[in-house]
Amino acid sequence: MKSLALEMKLKKDLMNLKSPIIESPNIWGYRNKCEFACGLNGQVGFYLGRNEDGTVEIVSGKDCPHVSELMKKIALNFQEFLATLPFHGYDSLKEEGHFRQLVLRTSQRGEVMALVQFHPQQLSSEEISEACAAVYNFYQNLCLNERIKLSCGFFQLYSKRTVGIFPDDPIELIYGDSPYIYESLLNLTFRISITSFFQVNVPATEKLYKLIEDWCGLSESSVLLDICCGTGTIGLSLSSKVPKVIGLELVQSAVNDANFNASLNGINNVEFFCGHAEATLPRVLDKYASVSDCVGVVDPPRAGLHPSLIRAFRKSSLKKLIYVSCDYKQAKSNFINLCKEDGGAPPFELKKYCAVDLFPHTHHTELVLLFERN
Ligand SMILES: C[S@@+](CC[C@H](N)C(=O)[O-])C[C@H]1O[C@@H](n2cnc3c(N)ncnc32)[C@H](O)[C@@H]1O
Repeated sequence: MKSLALEMKLKKDLMNLKSPIIESPNIWGYRNKCEFACGLNGQVGFYLGRNEDGTVEIVSGKDCPHVSELMKKIALNFQEFLATLPFHGYDSLKEEGHFRQLVLRTSQRGEVMALVQFHPQQLSSEEISEACAAVYNFYQNLCLNERIKLSCGFFQLYSKRTVGIFPDDPIELIYGDSPYIYESLLNLTFRISITSFFQVNVPATEKLYKLIEDWCGLSESSVLLDICCGTGTIGLSLSSKVPKVIGLELVQSAVNDANFNASLNGINNVEFFCGHAEATLPRVLDKYASVSDCVGVVDPPRAGLHPSLIRAFRKSSLKKLIYVSCDYKQAKSNFINLCKEDGGAPPFELKKYCAVDLFPHTHHTELVLLFERN
């Protein structure tokens, strides 16, 4: 089928989703990770608009139904703490101010991980040390006076315009003995680092992984490829069903966590490779070219996959690919390129799809698509 016709068909199919949406078991305060921005106006909360639109207004997250009471409490505490300091929040348009964001991660075990990101501007090293010491006091106060189980507290100096926690800029552990928290998922335990990806809604993720397991149809002869594997959650949770799991992931800290998580759970039939999957996948596919029952699960970031990875799937002997997408619009061209007749390698066919509501109270869902070919 030609691209345009295929796009029209995909659009129509997806707009008329026949499978029911799988609901999230919890819809209140489900997020285990939040990035609270700190504004020049003294608010610690969320951006109302985007930089590109010229809006940098920050409002409190106190009425957000998907933010937990624990996180709201810590964010409010941080806001009150900032008001006592000579350093201000940050204006991302004017690039003024110091405190940029407070990142919180929690686990169902009640553990908390926190990171405060700070723009050094023209401050002297003494002034930066003073700010860092104040953040240490904030963390200590959370533990001692607020009785919050803060496992680790970080401080990051960050002066680029982009928003996020970038592993290349030094992240200093200033509170706690260990830089990790631990999460339970499908009876396994996962170690999580500050820079590793982990799904934000764990009970709904368990439903998502059950669906993936059903659609994989794994057997005693299957090899499972977990592409964009993060801390290895999909591959590790399905590892008991297959003789071999291969995980591919870009971020080194996530690969370290994945390897650690395999040992922690006594799993020894998995192998994780760090790098761009577009570079590592062809080598892995070559190695397992003779395996007739190789199943791929790919769970890329919002923007979807690099076209060269789609070409590698097309050229491979892979017969079944499950694509997990958190942004259907951005990944659409991937779906089309998997399925279009281009005179080259055999195309896949979209067999079924289902949405899992990983993000209640938002416009987003996780879409799972099953592609197969003969
Ligand atoms: C949406 S997360 C999914 C992680 C994991 N499957 C899970 O369910 O927790 C996407 C992951 O893809 C990784 N990633 C991004 N670009 C990549 C690439 N080119 N090759 C391999 N991994 C990539 C990210 O670091 C992130 O861990």
